[in-house]
Order: sequence, then C-alpha cells, then structure tokens
Amino acid sequence: MVGERVLPMTIVCDSPAATLAFGARLGALLVCGDIVALQGELGTGKTQLAAGIAAGLGASEAVTSPTFVVIQHYHGRLPIHHADLYRLDDPAELAGIGLEELLDGDGVCLIEWPERAGERLPAEHLSIVCAWLGPAERAFTLGGTGPRARQIVAALAAVGC
Ligand SMILES: Nc1ncnc2c1ncn2[C@@H]1O[C@H](COP(=O)(O)OP(=O)(O)OP(=O)(O)O)[C@@H](O)[C@H]1O
Ligand SMILES: [Mg+2]
Repeated sequence: MVGERVLPMTIVCDSPAATLAFGARLGALLVCGDIVALQGELGTGKTQLAAGIAAGLGASEAVTSPTFVVIQHYHGRLPIHHADLYRLDDPAELAGIGLEELLDGDGVCLIEWPERAGERLPAEHLSIVCAWLGPAERAFTLGGTGPRARQIVAALAAVGC
C-alpha cells in the first residue's frame, strides 16, 4: 500500500551557501532507505542541494554532477548514492546502471531527473522540485508520498526549515 501525499512546503534559498546549509539540515534527518527525488530544470540547484545533503550526512568528499557516470557514491554516516538520470532514454535502462538494487539497499539515494525513471521510481519518496527565481535565488518545494516524506517535511518545518 502506498502512503498519502504530503502537503508541499517551499523554502527559498538566496545564495548557493544557503542551499548548501538547507541541504545539510535535510541530510542530517535522513535514514537508510530514504529516497530524495530532485526535480527541476537545468541549473536550478539540484546538484548544489545534493552536495548539502551529502555534507549533512557527514560525507567529506566533493559532490559533483554525476551526469556522465550516472551514479556516484559518497561515504557519510550512511552510503550515499547520487544519480543523474538526465541521459536515460528509457526507464528500462535503470536495470543496467544498477540503481534499482540501490533503491532498497544500504543507504540514501539522491536522484536528479527522477522523472526519467518513470514507474520504476518507488512511489514512496521525498520529492523536491527546484526552481529558478533569480540569479542567486532558488525555490525548493518539498513534498512526496509516504510516512518518511511526511516525517522529514514535518521535522524541517518544526525548525523553520
Ligand atoms: N541559491 C542557489 N542555490 C543553488 N544554486 C545556486 C543558487 N544561486 C546560484 N546558484 C548557482 O546555480 C547553479 C546550480 O547548478 P547545479 O549544478 O546545482 O544545477 P542542477 O539543477 O543540478 O543542473 P543540472 O540539471 O544541469 O544537473 C550553480 O552554478 C550555483 O552556483
Ligand atoms: Mg545536476
């Protein structure tokens, strides 16, 4: 059974550093099995936010765009799998890149361009829609489906994001 959709909540970050800090607060809340789907057009801050999330999970490696290698792995208090599906032509290709095993595996998955996975993306995940507001301003709208998405959004709301 799939859980209910979460009421969306938007946070505006007015600099790349603010996005990193927000991502770090989010990363500190994540547990094994969490999936974060990062939607939004090119340059809206998905990778920047992923870098903050990885830092909040305790990863010390530099997080870069995984566009050409599709999935990169970082090591924090949990394994972090960071995928960019921009170049995926067909959701069936997911099997070939090994993301499906990682989705219910040992760590946290951060997925850019999750819509490319179609129905293969588990229905229960935290979704973040990233949008460009200005040269240094981005809006991040959190939502998604299921108990974990609800807990994460509630926890962020409780600390004022
Ligand atoms: N408030 C902000 N938050 C995040 N990034 C910002 C912000 N202001 C400016 N930027 C800049 O916007 C760019 C965001 O790039 P990023 O690679 O994170 O985007 P992306 O959504 O991952 O793009 P792509 O779809 O190509 O993977 C960076 O150059 C970053 O410095
Ligand atoms: Mg990116």
